[in-house]
Amino acid sequence: MEAAISVSGLKKSYKENAVLTGVDFSVESGTIFALLGSNGAGKTTIINILTTLIESDAGNSMVGGFDVAKSPNEVRHHISLTGQFAAVDDILTARENLVLIGDLRHVSNPAQTAVDLLKKFGLSDAADRRVTTFSGGMRRRLDIAMSLIGNPSIIFLDEPTNGLDPEARNDMWQTVRALAKNGTTVFLTTQYLEEADELADTVAVLHQGNIIAKGTPEELKKLIPGGLVKFTFRNENQLETAINVLENDYKITERNALTITVATGGNTTQIADLFIRLRDAKLDPTDFSQQIPTLDDVFFKLTSKKDEAK
Ligand SMILES: Nc1ncnc2c1ncn2[C@@H]1O[C@H](COP(=O)(O)OP(=O)(O)OP(=O)(O)O)[C@@H](O)[C@H]1O
Ligand SMILES: [Mg+2]
Repeated sequence: MEAAISVSGLKKSYKENAVLTGVDFSVESGTIFALLGSNGAGKTTIINILTTLIESDAGNSMVGGFDVAKSPNEVRHHISLTGQFAAVDDILTARENLVLIGDLRHVSNPAQTAVDLLKKFGLSDAADRRVTTFSGGMRRRLDIAMSLIGNPSIIFLDEPTNGLDPEARNDMWQTVRALAKNGTTVFLTTQYLEEADELADTVAVLHQGNIIAKGTPEELKKLIPGGLVKFTFRNENQLETAINVLENDYKITERNALTITVATGGNTTQIADLFIRLRDAKLDPTDFSQQIPTLDDVFFKLTSKKDEAK
C-alpha cells in the first residue's frame, strides 16, 4: 500500500532544546494515524513541519507524494490543517467563515459548499450567528468543516477533541471515521488514549524526541502482559490452597489479604483451566475479574521505562 506520509530521521531543536531527535514513521493512504505524546513531546512540532509551517533541521518528510522541504506548495495543495487552537474568525458568522475559505481555496461554488458543510456538521441552524456566540464544540466543528473545503486528501488534526464534552467528542469521532472511509488520510494528535484506541488504525508514541512504539492499538496492548485474572477468596485457608494448586504452572503476580492475581497467556483455554483447578480443589472464589490492558497502561509503561533508563 502506498504511504500518504512518510518521515525519516526527522530532527528539530529550539536552541538547546532537542525536541525531535530522529523521528521515523509512515502513514498508509486512507488510514487514521494517531500520534500520542505528553505535553511538550513535540506533536505540534511534527504537524507544523509536515504542514510546511516550520522547517526541520534534518530528515526527510514526504506528504502526498511530495517532499515537504522541496515542494511545499504542492504539499499545501493536498492537505489541510486544523490546529490545536481554533482558527475561526469570531466576528464572522459560521457561513461567512466557510465562504471566505471557499473563496481563498478557489472552490467552484463557495456558497453551496458552505451550505453542504453546515448541514454535514449540524450547524445549519446556527449558520448566520456570529461565532462569538458558539460553544466550544460548535467552534471545533466549524474549524474542521473549514479544513475540509477543497477536499484535501490528507488532513492534520491537532488535538481535535480537546475540551469537548463526551457527546461532542463522539460526534467528532464519527466525522473522522467518515473521512477515512471516503479515502481521506487522517493524521491526528491526541492526549486521550481512548480516542486513539477508538479511532486509529496505527498509533505511534512520541517520547523524548523519538517514536518509542508504533503499531495497531491491539499490537501495542500486547506489549504488556495480558490475561491477568484476579481472584478473591473467603478466607486465608482457601487462598493458600489456591496458590498451591496454581503456582506450579502459573505465575502469581500479586498477593494481598484475600486476593491473588494470576498471569496467563490470555487465551480462554488457560483461563478456563484456572477455574477448573479451583473447582477440583473445592474452592469457590467470592469474586474474580480479568484485567485487560488498555492503551493507558501501555503508554505509562512505555514512557516510565524510558524515563528510568535515562
Ligand atoms: N517556537 C518555539 N520556540 C521555542 N521552543 C518551542 C517553540 N515551539 C515549540 N517549542 C518547544 O518544543 C517542545 C515541543 O512543543 P510542541 O508544541 O511540539 O509539543 P506538543 O507535544 O504539541 O505539546 P502539547 O500537548 O502541550 O500541545 C516544547 O518544549 C516547546 O516548549
Ligand atoms: Mg501541541
